[in-house]
Amino acid sequence: MSNLQAIKITDRVYWVGAIDWALRDFHGYHTSKGSTYNAYLILGEEPILVDTVKGPFVSEMIERIKSVIPLEKIQYIISNHAEMDHSSGLPEMIQLASPKKIFTSQAGVQALRDHFHQLPDILCKVANGETLTLGNTNLKFIATKMLHWPESMFTYFADEGVLFSQDAFGMHLATQEIFAEHNDPATLYREAGTYFANILLPYSPLVLQLFKNIEALNLSIQLVAPVHGPIWRKTEDIQKIFSWWKKWAEQKIYPKVVIAYDTMWQSTAKMAIAIADGVIQEPGITPLVMPLSSNERSSVAFELLEAGALLLGSPTLNQQTLPSIADLICYLKGLKRKNLFGQCFGSYGWGAESITILKEEMQKMFITLIDDPIKARYVPTSDVLSTCSILGKKIAKLIKTKI
Ligand code: FEO
Repeated sequence: MSNLQAIKITDRVYWVGAIDWALRDFHGYHTSKGSTYNAYLILGEEPILVDTVKGPFVSEMIERIKSVIPLEKIQYIISNHAEMDHSSGLPEMIQLASPKKIFTSQAGVQALRDHFHQLPDILCKVANGETLTLGNTNLKFIATKMLHWPESMFTYFADEGVLFSQDAFGMHLATQEIFAEHNDPATLYREAGTYFANILLPYSPLVLQLFKNIEALNLSIQLVAPVHGPIWRKTEDIQKIFSWWKKWAEQKIYPKVVIAYDTMWQSTAKMAIAIADGVIQEPGITPLVMPLSSNERSSVAFELLEAGALLLGSPTLNQQTLPSIADLICYLKGLKRKNLFGQCFGSYGWGAESITILKEEMQKMFITLIDDPIKARYVPTSDVLSTCSILGKKIAKLIKTKI
């Protein structure tokens, strides 16, 4: 006899997902608090499963579904997003529940076929804005192309005002408190921001357009049900997560200077601290020193969401930067944070190639470089540290004029 139960979230909708307490890596994004894979069951004359879960968690989802209805009662499955954390449980669910149809976007049909090469011929595409009545259930589909995959879409359950938003408005947070209001607000902010910074940031213009599209539809949204983390059901909480997303997508300049570096013999570390010392001299601007020996790349990405500058430091190792800095640059380049000032710095022994590399990479990231890179031969002199401090103060002052 199973103990796993579905959780009723509205009169007709149950959460039937799974909690992944152990997840610590999501394609390079450090998920320090695990995650959930949320699937939902809409009860009615023809029950519908909205999304599935990651393959290894199918048995958990099945137990929860069975606590409400037998699997065979499921008539349809909706796939809002084909990424494996939501779709790799789909083939097994098709086998076990034998749904009549699977609804997904046009791109979703192809994406699911490209993932699972032997799906039965029950995939049905739905268009942006299309409505569908299944028994006594009224649905509307909203295309959210490139948020964050080409096939991504929302499903709106009109009878109860539930927006099934797939990855949107979610976060990687393993919690048994399925409703947002039962979780620590600071944790929600941090994890929602980390999720946005690491997954959605490159698509910020589309996020802003998404809100316009949703507002134009004039939906009566009573509850937002993402596929990761808690559900937003209180009006003020829904407004809160929407406003966070809008704010982050605008990519404004904030009064914080992120100084990310790695060091070999503490020379570059000394330079980082000197820069921070300069920043703090400008009241209202905060430096954040992030040695990569103790900060994950996804934490740096989160901090940049609400920053105004990024300074990158690395000594030269074999005519390169240290590997940790190369890793960070590769990652941040893809996330495309706009509107940052910055500069690079680092120590060297006989060649200062890391500085050349950092400068080129920061230019490719469209970071507005202030003054010149700062380099120190072996160990920074007091003059070099003073130059670092002056740079920190100058960047802080500049940020002040922009916010
Ligand atoms: Fe949660 Fe884009 O997958």
